[in-house]
Amino acid sequence: MSEQSQTEAHLQLAESEQRYRAAIDNAHDMIQSVRPDGTFEFVNKSWLDTLGYSADEVPALDIWDIIHDSSREHCQLYFSKALGGESIPYMEAVFRTRGGDPVPVEGSVTNRYLGDTIIATHGFFRNITERLHAEELERQNAALVRDEQARYLEKMAALGKLSAGLAHELNNPAAAVGRASARLTAALANRDDALNTLVSQGISKQQCRRLTGLAAAPAPGPEEQLGPLERDRRESEIEEVLDELGVPQGWSLAAGLAQAGQTGTSIRELATQVPQGDLAPTLRWVDATNATKESVEILTRSSRRITELVQAIKGYTHMDRAAEQQVDLHDGIESTLTILNHALRDVTVTRDFDRSIPAIRVHGNTLNQVWTNVLDNAADATGGSGAIAIRTRREDDCAVVEIEDDGAGIAEADLHRIFEPFFTTKPQGVGTGLGLDTAWRIVTEEHGGTITVESRPGRTLFRVTLPLDQRR
Ligand SMILES: Nc1ncnc2c1ncn2[C@@H]1O[C@H](COP(=O)(O)OP(=O)(O)OP(=O)(O)O)[C@@H](O)[C@H]1O
Ligand SMILES: [Mg+2]
Repeated sequence: MSEQSQTEAHLQLAESEQRYRAAIDNAHDMIQSVRPDGTFEFVNKSWLDTLGYSADEVPALDIWDIIHDSSREHCQLYFSKALGGESIPYMEAVFRTRGGDPVPVEGSVTNRYLGDTIIATHGFFRNITERLHAEELERQNAALVRDEQARYLEKMAALGKLSAGLAHELNNPAAAVGRASARLTAALANRDDALNTLVSQGISKQQCRRLTGLAAAPAPGPEEQLGPLERDRRESEIEEVLDELGVPQGWSLAAGLAQAGQTGTSIRELATQVPQGDLAPTLRWVDATNATKESVEILTRSSRRITELVQAIKGYTHMDRAAEQQVDLHDGIESTLTILNHALRDVTVTRDFDRSIPAIRVHGNTLNQVWTNVLDNAADATGGSGAIAIRTRREDDCAVVEIEDDGAGIAEADLHRIFEPFFTTKPQGVGTGLGLDTAWRIVTEEHGGTITVESRPGRTLFRVTLPLDQRR
């Protein structure tokens, strides 16, 4: 080759190398060429920028200076594979910047040969920090959505349980109201009827006063009510006396008259004071008046119970108050106990309350969910018929609420898991395992308190501690 053509060839080569160099330097990916001893033959601009080195520093580095510890073993394997002649179409690794920060990358590695000898491995890598970050965010989002859905379902299930219990609680007094008002209607008609008979028979003023006197005798309260044996005895006695005195259908009056506090003797005495024909309507009047009083009594009691339940529901949900408020802990506990009455019917609940604990600042009705979930578990644990003790006290600047049951207890192996979402030992469809997770979040995250548990067979104690001044 002539000297001129040699120079031209050199120029062409230099020009082509410059072109490649420019392409490599402008590449967005990190490109490196590594000699078999691990030192760098060349690296591009993106590599320098990403890892924070200047070009002057590169000759003093080797590949292990830029591999993060977490990725060292993994890269050693790939590097020896590459030096053994394998190309690596895809790999992930974690690089390390000059300052020591990890840089997750993905890329590929190929070899450059001179004859049969590998003289360098070429690596092309892409910084995937952002992509991993986006993926992580997406995962967290999906987990949040899942959690939210689960919590929503838990809320619905809890609401379902509560409303079933409440329906049951309300049903008793509501049914009693229905029965009492039907009885009241009949009693009023009977009373009018008896009075009409008496008036048509020309009742005297004196008899009228006596009637009022008989009506004034208070119906016996529940505590004065006769035992079943004594009541039966008194009814038969009254029935006999009515028979003796020739009162028609005396048997239908005996129960009511016994209930009204009459006895065989008092009826005999009455018979001496009223004209013969007036005795039966007088007794019917007494019986009907007593039924009236009893019905009114039941109506009063039942409507009081309905009011109590409605108050408890209001107290429980705080539906008539602001989201954040100062409340007396005990009110919430009492409302919850009323609402859970159906589950606690045969459980002995004892209270040892320090009523002097100052009001605490709460968020809506959420604390009531804590009492509900812990009490619900306690009721489950006692099989519906054990004992639950609720204690409150003040400890420094905290209110402490303890709920203890005498149920079977929590297995040692489960103890550290019970606050985990979805951890349940109950059959499918009975427990979702979110009760204590919800309680934990409300106590710690929403109210800055703590919730702990101690358990052995026959005694499980949940302790909730709430800071008194919640204005953190
Ligand atoms: N007082 C307790 N006695 C015995 N075990 C309990 C008690 N409280 C909680 N546990 C255990 O902790 C587990 C988790 O309770 P958690 O309230 O979170 O869920 P769950 O009661 O199973 O279901 P959910 O409350 O969602 O209906 C229960 O399954 C039970 O094994
Ligand atoms: Mg539960």
